[in-house]
Formats: sequence, C-alpha cells, structure tokens
Amino acid sequence: MISFTSEQRFIVTGASSGLGEAAALLLNELGASVIGIARNQERLEAMKATAKYPENVFLEQKDLTENIKGLPAYVKALKEKYGKFQGLAYCAGISQIQPLQFLDYNDLKKIFDINYFAPVLMIKGVADKRCNIGAGTSIVAIASIAAFARDKGHLSYAGSKAALSASLKCISKEVIGRGIRVNCVSPSNIKTPMNTGMEDYEESQKNLYPLGFGETKDVANMIAFLLSDKAKFISGQNYVIDSGGVL
Ligand SMILES: NC(=O)c1ccc[n+]([C@@H]2O[C@H](COP(=O)([O-])OP(=O)(O)OC[C@H]3O[C@@H](n4cnc5c(N)ncnc54)[C@H](OP(=O)(O)O)[C@@H]3O)[C@@H](O)[C@H]2O)c1
Repeated sequence: MISFTSEQRFIVTGASSGLGEAAALLLNELGASVIGIARNQERLEAMKATAKYPENVFLEQKDLTENIKGLPAYVKALKEKYGKFQGLAYCAGISQIQPLQFLDYNDLKKIFDINYFAPVLMIKGVADKRCNIGAGTSIVAIASIAAFARDKGHLSYAGSKAALSASLKCISKEVIGRGIRVNCVSPSNIKTPMNTGMEDYEESQKNLYPLGFGETKDVANMIAFLLSDKAKFISGQNYVIDSGGVL
C-alpha cells in the first residue's frame, strides 16, 4: 500500500480541476502534504474543502505562463516557504483543436507555454538540489496519447505533448545519478472538465475504448504510484493509460 507522511511535500500544478485535482486529493489522502497551484482560487479552495487532511493542503494562485523564465526561481521561493520537495506532479495543461490552415504562431506559442515550456522549467526548479530532498525525489508530468496519434487538428497539442515526453526522457538521464526519478503518464480520454458533454462520443468510441473513458482517479493512481518509493526502480518512462484499446 502506498503511503506518505506530511513531511513529504509535493507540488501539484493544475490542482483546481480534473487530473491535477484528483492527484492532489489522492496524495493528500495517502498522507502527503500538497502545494496545489492553479489560477482559479475559488476552485483551489473547493479542492481543499474536499481533502481528507485539509491542514496538509497549501494553495498557490499562479498563472504558470505569466513569467515562464522565472519558474525555477518561483520553485525556489516555494521551497523557502514550505521546505524541500519530495516531488512534482505537473498536471496543468490546455488542449486545442486547430487545423493547420487556421493556425498561427500565437496559438502554437500559447499551447507550448503551458504544456511544454512551463513544465520543463518547473522541473528544472524542482530538480535543483537546493529545492528537493535528494535521492527519492520523483517527478511526473502528464503528456497525452495524442503524442502518438495522428488526429486532424491536434498538431499543436500533440506536438507539445510529444516534446514534453521526449524532454522528460532526456531529463531523467541527467538527474538519475542524484536518485531523482522522472516519468510521464499519457492518458487517452478521461472524464474531466476539459472534455465534458462527450457521452455520445464515448458511446461511438466503444471499439477504441472497451473500458469506456477513464475516471480521474485512474490517472491519479498511476501518478501516486510513480511519486512513491514503490516505483523506486522506475525512471525515464512514459505510461499509456488508454482503456486498453486506443494504442
Ligand atoms: N482529460 C483528458 O482526457 C486528458 C487526456 C490526456 C491528457 N490530458 C492532459 O492532462 C492535463 C490535465 O487535463 P485535465 O483534463 O485535468 O484538464 P482541466 O480539468 O481543464 O484542468 C487543467 C488544469 O490546468 C490548470 N491551468 C491551465 N492553464 C494554466 C495556467 N496558465 N497557469 C496555471 N494553471 C493552469 C487549470 O487551472 P486554472 O484554470 O485554475 O488555472 C486546471 O487546474 C492536461 O495537460 C491535459 O492535456 C488530459
């Protein structure tokens, strides 16, 4: 059974909704302290209100794309405030469906800012030896099966997730010597606010999704496992969570 102590602190981005919220609540339920980051304070408060141990949930309202260059320093400031981190679950992100014909640089940059540049620089911050506990530190980011697919209109989203998972593999090699593990999870369709109202679509996709669309906890369980010492031998991997039929 996975368990943490309240001295084990995890940063969870995207903690106000969907997969990040589920990861924050599960890590907290398993005993860890969570620093939940997102822009929407009201939704962050709502997440904290449902936590099993709300005294171990700390909220940081922040737009992670506002000063991307400053994210390593931001992590350092969080470390001064809370103490060294056991790890990071980077779950913030946006999707975008836009065919090539309508795409411009600003659209591409917007999606890469939150889905690629911000996670890489948050990871740089957490991997800094001044900010983590050293050996046993674990970092997980959410990519997507879109990175493996070839769906029309997904070029920017898929590109950002492919770039993220590729960079995480390289980062894992750089930090494993210090006992820091870095992994990715790549879900298919999971029922979150990012894709609500998809019941008809879910029904039409039964051949690809024999187990239906996933629940947020399906992904949170994998994140908690990878962040825990039960996964102490695992790094540089990208785990597909896809209902057993998409890839
Ligand atoms: N749901 C799926 O089916 C699925 C499948 C594969 C991959 N994913 C990936 O999983 C991740 C989470 O998706 P989700 O379904 O949980 O989406 P969601 O419910 O829309 O949650 C997205 C989270 O990201 C945060 N966020 C977005 N922009 C931000 C910014 N500029 N600064 C700080 N926080 C920001 C949002 O918080 P605020 O709005 O409060 O800032 C929110 O907490 C995304 O990277 C997504 O691509 C999702």
